Amino acid sequence: MAKVGIFFGTDTGNTRKIAKQIATKLGEAADKPVNISKASVDDLLAYDVLIVGSPTYGDGELPGLSAGHDNESWEEFLPTMAGADFSGKTVALFGLGDQEGYPDNFVDALGFIYDAFDEAGATIVGMTSRAGYTFNQSRALQGDQFVGLALDEDTQKDLSEARLSEWLTAISPAWK
Ligand SMILES: Cc1cc2nc3c(=O)[nH]c(=O)nc-3n(C[C@H](O)[C@H](O)[C@H](O)COP(=O)(O)O)c2cc1C
Repeated sequence: MAKVGIFFGTDTGNTRKIAKQIATKLGEAADKPVNISKASVDDLLAYDVLIVGSPTYGDGELPGLSAGHDNESWEEFLPTMAGADFSGKTVALFGLGDQEGYPDNFVDALGFIYDAFDEAGATIVGMTSRAGYTFNQSRALQGDQFVGLALDEDTQKDLSEARLSEWLTAISPAWK
């Protein structure tokens, strides 16, 4: 069976850490996580199932050069997806943010990344409830659901493990 591809953006390493935890939990089912700064659209298209993650920076921005980061990231990658065809691909998204520090832009980057994969025709799985989080607004919300898994390593770190395990179980039919 084809492996799951895991791609992430990060500045301070939290999203890399979660990507590695996902890889460990998937074991043989996944390839080693790759920083999106080192990936091309063709690298992603090599997989039928993708798990992609990103933190949010600025006030609701993607990680990348505009946010003052040293390396390119999702900000620079998403425009390269224009015209790409992800139909037939299953994509699950996870986002890291800080609901207390940025209550008006909580995990906004997830929303931008969702839009790019949706536009490219991907089947997006792994929506989650907003219950248990406290914030004002998020671009990652559709109704009462996030378009992926929201994790807050800044203010709800102790909840991440359970949230991650539950989410992976929910999306596991994609590769099982
Ligand atoms: C300068 C700065 C801006 C941030 N802006 C947001 C934001 O707009 N929304 C949000 O949910 N989190 C925001 N965060 C929180 C980060 O997304 C969070 O700390 C995340 O875990 C960092 O992930 P990383 O270690 O993979 O870079 C911001 C953090 C910093 C330092």
